[in-house]
Amino acid sequence: MVYPLLLLLTFPLFSYSLNSDGCLTTQCVDTNPNYCIQVLSNVVNVSPCLAGYQCSSYSQLSTYSATWKNSTCVNYSFKTYVDLCNDSTYTKTQAPGDHCCQDWNCVSGFCTDGICEPHAYNSYCDSHSICKAGSYCYNLTSTSNGYCKTTLSEGSACTKDYECDIGYGCNQKKCTKLFSIYYSEQADDAKFCVSNYLTSNGYCDAIKVYANGKLLGPPYQCRIGHTCTYKSVVYDDVIASEPCLCSGTNTSIGYCASYMSMAYDHIGSLYEDMQYSESKCAEDRTHIGDVATLWACGSISDDQYNHWVLMNQQFSYWALYQSGVIDNCAKSMGLFDPGYEEDDSAVYLALASLALYLS
Ligand SMILES: *[C@@H]1O[C@H](CO)[C@@H](O)[C@H](O)[C@H]1NC(C)=O
Ligand SMILES: *[C@@H]1O[C@H](CO)[C@@H](O)[C@H](O)[C@H]1NC(C)=O
Ligand SMILES: *[C@@H]1O[C@H](CO)[C@@H](O)[C@H](O)[C@H]1NC(C)=O
Ligand SMILES: *[C@@H]1O[C@H](CO)[C@@H](O)[C@H](O)[C@H]1NC(C)=O
Ligand SMILES: *[C@@H]1O[C@H](CO)[C@@H](O)[C@H](O)[C@H]1NC(C)=O
Repeated sequence: MVYPLLLLLTFPLFSYSLNSDGCLTTQCVDTNPNYCIQVLSNVVNVSPCLAGYQCSSYSQLSTYSATWKNSTCVNYSFKTYVDLCNDSTYTKTQAPGDHCCQDWNCVSGFCTDGICEPHAYNSYCDSHSICKAGSYCYNLTSTSNGYCKTTLSEGSACTKDYECDIGYGCNQKKCTKLFSIYYSEQADDAKFCVSNYLTSNGYCDAIKVYANGKLLGPPYQCRIGHTCTYKSVVYDDVIASEPCLCSGTNTSIGYCASYMSMAYDHIGSLYEDMQYSESKCAEDRTHIGDVATLWACGSISDDQYNHWVLMNQQFSYWALYQSGVIDNCAKSMGLFDPGYEEDDSAVYLALASLALYLS
């Protein structure tokens, strides 16, 4: 993995007196029937659960706190079977694009080949979730139905997201492409930002990471005992201050590992290529930024979704991903894929627009 900014940023390698007592050596253990995380006096054993079982909690590996608990393997809980054909609690619960068995399952009232159908252009509508993608429920009031009308194109005046074309939403009263607004510009919602991150005062931004006052680049290495400060890039607001997290070794080396999916070095390849113009769903789900829904609606490809999932897994377990201490078992346990690499060219694109703000 190549991070262009890394070369410009120097990491302070002074010797401090450090307290790394809480940072235990962490390792994969092939079989450990009862435990997925077993905390002994100076080592943490991490193992997959046997078939039919799942780990009660791997989450301490992502926050990587110094407070360790044993986690056991518990029976795998299968999702309860949903009987769409006979269960009347699934009446009008399924939006266009969702599974169905009977017409009455669907908000739209039409089930074809097991999938709820949207209402076609010009047909009546009684909700903002049933018009075919590329149309919206026009003139719907609390007392009367509307009809499905073609959506508005980029730049058109609007008041609601659903009025705009697929992949657009209503931002600053104009139909605006999702994931298109660059840093320092105002937006009504994070989904309009290339970073999918909005500051509390409404500007598209990203996060930069400091340890003990020094700006860091990937892999955001820090010294145990130091404080990591996460700030917005353009406005310099402090988002959080947290301890440097353990890396799974009993050394003083750790990582600033929070907010990794919003870090300016990472975001470019995550959202910029998620702009979309197609959807199998209808109205309300054709203007959203939720990645799992975009995938389910066919707005983004399997590859794009996979990329997003794999990158976010690495970000979630950042400290252990960087140190590599559980590389042997991380993938089989479904935590992260240590071999997956981000596309460097996309990172460059996003960085170009931010370079201005980093001195
Ligand atoms: C975890 O379980 C082991 C027994 O397998 C025990 O020796 C150890 O003290 C436990 N650790 C914690 C933190 O409870
Ligand atoms: C797990 O499931 C088995 C049978 O499938 C059962 O005998 C056992 O009691 C269950 N264990 C727990 C902790 O629920
Ligand atoms: C649902 O009801 C039909 C009859 O209406 C019945 O034949 C079918 O077995 C039922 N399905 C389930 C899963 O209960
Ligand atoms: C909107 O609905 C109202 C009430 O049904 C109707 O009187 C009006 O003509 C409709 N307007 C348009 C532009 O369709
Ligand atoms: C760190 O771990 C190594 C190997 O597990 C061990 O030999 C050493 O004593 C540990 N150091 C501390 C300070 O715990």
